[in-house]
Amino acid sequence: MVYNIVVLASGSGSNFEAIVRQTRLYFTDITVSMLITDKKNAFAIKRAEYLGIPYTLLPKHHRFRVLDEIIDAVKPHLIVLAGFMRIIPRWFVEKHFGKIVNIHPSLLPSFPGMHAIRQAYDYGVRVTGITIHFVDSGVDTGPIIFQYPLMVNPEWDIEKLEEYIHRLEHRFYTPVINGLLHCPYEIRGRKVIFTDNRGDACDIFRVERGEYIP
Ligand code: GRF
Repeated sequence: MVYNIVVLASGSGSNFEAIVRQTRLYFTDITVSMLITDKKNAFAIKRAEYLGIPYTLLPKHHRFRVLDEIIDAVKPHLIVLAGFMRIIPRWFVEKHFGKIVNIHPSLLPSFPGMHAIRQAYDYGVRVTGITIHFVDSGVDTGPIIFQYPLMVNPEWDIEKLEEYIHRLEHRFYTPVINGLLHCPYEIRGRKVIFTDNRGDACDIFRVERGEYIP
């Protein structure tokens, strides 16, 4: 079985690049078939070019109609948001619910929305982290798939905190995507329950142990 996913990004695209590189190295039955962006200047496009991944720029008008047509044509197993800075309309979420995942740079429900790392930093939290969740029609409110915490040293500057958060994102997003594609799970209300998390492919920490290195 070969899985294909599309990644949606509006900005730098460092998560997009991490997903492409890690699927090519460790999760070779997953193909990133397209980058989709809404920003013509997104650095993610440059990354798509040097990684050799096709990309599509969504038009300003009827953006989500066009996206929907692309999704119907490409039929990805997952629609992966990685810094896609648009609120997804309800009809699109309802049509594709359970297929759209997002990564957010805080421990939700703390600090949803924009500038989450800055919000957490300014608040002075001593623990923050990352959240990977299904997308519903709210802002960063969908059922949580995975979270990973980070202890914050109050002497860090914002750049240090950003660096550590991004490292966690790059470390975990692809293994979690792999888990969603390979492992049976159910979405029960707000809870995502992996029904057989003893299976090897479901163990995202195998990457940490280096077991995927070819
Ligand atoms: C990440 O921090 C992600 O959590 C948030 O947007 C940022 C995207 O960064 N949703 P990049 O474009 O992948 O570098």
